[in-house]
Amino acid sequence: MHQLIAEMTLEEKAGLVSGAAFWSTRPVERLSIPAVTMTDGPHGVRMQRQSADHLGLNASEPATCFPTASSTGSTWNPELLAEMGEALAHESRALGVDILLGPGVNIKRSPLCGRNFEYFSEDPFHAGVMGAAFVRGVQSQGVGTSLKHFAANNQETDRMRIDAQVDERTLREIYFPAFERIIREAAPTTVMCSYNKVNGLHASQNSWLLTDMLRKEWGFNGYVVSDWGAVGDPVAAVAAGLDLEMPSTGDRSVNAIIEAVNSGVLDESLLDLAVSRILTVHENLLSTRTSAPVVDFDAHHALAGRIAAEGTVLLSNEGHLLPLSAAEGDTIAVIGEFARTPRYQGAGSSHVNPTRLDDALTAIQAATTRTVEFAAGFTFDGDRNEQLHAEAIALAARSSVVVMFLGLPPQNESEGFDRSHILLPETQRNLLDAIARVNRNIVVILSNGGAVSLQGIIGTAPSILEMWLGGQASGTAAADLIFGTAQPGGRLAETIPHSLAQTPAFVNWPGENGVVRYGEGLYVGYRWYDHTEQDVAFPFGYGLSYTTFNCISMTVTVPDNTKAQASVEISVTNAGNRAGAEVVQVYVTDNEASVSRPRRELKGFTKVWLEPGEVKNLLVELDERAFAFWGTAGWTVEPGTFTIHAGPNSRDLPLAEVLTLNVPQQSTILDTESTLQEWASHPAGLTVLKQAMIRMGQSADALTNEESLPIFGSMPLRTILGFAQQANAVEFDVDEALANLLSAVESA
Ligand code: GLC
Repeated sequence: MHQLIAEMTLEEKAGLVSGAAFWSTRPVERLSIPAVTMTDGPHGVRMQRQSADHLGLNASEPATCFPTASSTGSTWNPELLAEMGEALAHESRALGVDILLGPGVNIKRSPLCGRNFEYFSEDPFHAGVMGAAFVRGVQSQGVGTSLKHFAANNQETDRMRIDAQVDERTLREIYFPAFERIIREAAPTTVMCSYNKVNGLHASQNSWLLTDMLRKEWGFNGYVVSDWGAVGDPVAAVAAGLDLEMPSTGDRSVNAIIEAVNSGVLDESLLDLAVSRILTVHENLLSTRTSAPVVDFDAHHALAGRIAAEGTVLLSNEGHLLPLSAAEGDTIAVIGEFARTPRYQGAGSSHVNPTRLDDALTAIQAATTRTVEFAAGFTFDGDRNEQLHAEAIALAARSSVVVMFLGLPPQNESEGFDRSHILLPETQRNLLDAIARVNRNIVVILSNGGAVSLQGIIGTAPSILEMWLGGQASGTAAADLIFGTAQPGGRLAETIPHSLAQTPAFVNWPGENGVVRYGEGLYVGYRWYDHTEQDVAFPFGYGLSYTTFNCISMTVTVPDNTKAQASVEISVTNAGNRAGAEVVQVYVTDNEASVSRPRRELKGFTKVWLEPGEVKNLLVELDERAFAFWGTAGWTVEPGTFTIHAGPNSRDLPLAEVLTLNVPQQSTILDTESTLQEWASHPAGLTVLKQAMIRMGQSADALTNEESLPIFGSMPLRTILGFAQQANAVEFDVDEALANLLSAVESA
């Protein structure tokens, strides 16, 4: 590699890091360096042959449109996501795509984010596990990935300029862990930096993000590609650790880099570093490549349907209205334009030209011998139409059961803008109310990328299925779910709140004057609702089945309680009469933390298929990070008791066991600003302090006894020394005395 780089001219090197056209890198024919093609996206290949764009406006080649991440995340099935990744890789190869620009693993900070359909979760552990599976699946077939968007890209409003002000602990515990896990476990070929600033500096030129975190701390060994148009200063970007600017800016960036190297502003070794990273990834990708597989589009379509069903969350099923009989019964009213015109993917760069598209109406008609009649009820764009409205009510009145397809019209959510509310269109809510007055047997099937308020839906419709944006086969999946030939396998990967006003980011969203403050800190998603003890419509991890499961017992084993590590074995059974899949979730509570911590955090989960009456034992391993928080001295596990919870969702955790960890107390690093409490809590600090008190003729415990410490504990020791000097009229240099105490601690 070094020899090859040495042979490249400065112009060739500057060209390689500056992209070519919209979807490819620049070749260097002279040196047999090939161009590499990359394109979106996370749930389908968007390969454009003619006019290119990064917003899904122009046509692309047909490809399987799989369910979007809000659906695949709801499967809680990493193996299934890996399978989808393999299929995506096959289609990428067939279309000549070398790197697929996904997965998106940004945390769903607010349900208002227009791109939440492209992201897995409100929880970093869950997002990391699902994203790592996706990357492994795609890359196992010789196609690269691009883990995106690093970092803190949690809104679309002003996304190219907004400065996300996030404290480091929140970044490390909430917004980084999915990226960190995927980099450590799945080694994505590229990471895509986000458009926004993070704490004042654009991600594209933020060396703390791109070099210190990605490479020095997490060991990332691929290359960093910019989001499209995210680079404002190509020279600063290369210096910070951005390796490839996309798309091409013609000669502008190339010339800027050449000029910077020639003038000494940019050290050429940094340019060479970017070039070597790009060439290494591309060489590894292309040299290990086997011949392009033949794509089985029928199999991919069936897989898309299987994923859609497994990502569907059964939110309610009063009276076990579902599944319907396919043979027995009178007319089934299928109501809602989305039944005939599916709402199955989001808008923007992830937009796919599907190989085929199943509509639920046709699929339902094909799946039953019962009479099926259709009424649109409202327009696809969610507008009211009196005739459609009246026809739907009349049909419902003469039918035995109503299956209503509701959801968000495409113009409600997309890349590029955020929602302003989380309500379903009023037209749809009014129609449901009217239909409920003539028929109570209502199944609501939702198609939406971001969570919607279900006020007025819950209690009106006995059965509610959340299908999210279920991809090109979601129509067939809907019919399979309605008649029970498929099981709703989904669990919520984001909380469904009652209202927008109770959401964590509500008062800080979407920011103003170019700044958005993550004022809720760690308390995102269920962390917020649990900490503030709020009721929600449906909690994180929630989902029903057509059968019932019981978590019977749990055994927590701690091999050595001086180390933060535990094995959790859970026994679960299918207590119903239908087969189904349960997601057993494990949450950890730190009962004695010295800092604020969420009530409980997801640290493990396992999905298991169970036949009626079957019992299985599941094993979840908890490593040190499962107990740790990010403290002043880095990742910290404090000694004390922790509670391990297990159960079907974040608010239904029937199994709990308290364990005690006698891990060494990580002492705080004392400095000139440390308080009396920090000195008194420090093993060496207390001894040194008592000795100093005695030398000053004071009782050793004068300040650290039970009465004094609560009063003086929050005072910096420097202040107390100053008071002592004045009170005792003794002459000593406070700063010198403090320095002596600190050095005594260091040498203790
Ligand atoms: C878009 C998106 C990114 C996508 C890229 C290329 O703006 O933010 O996710 O991969 O540009 O289309």
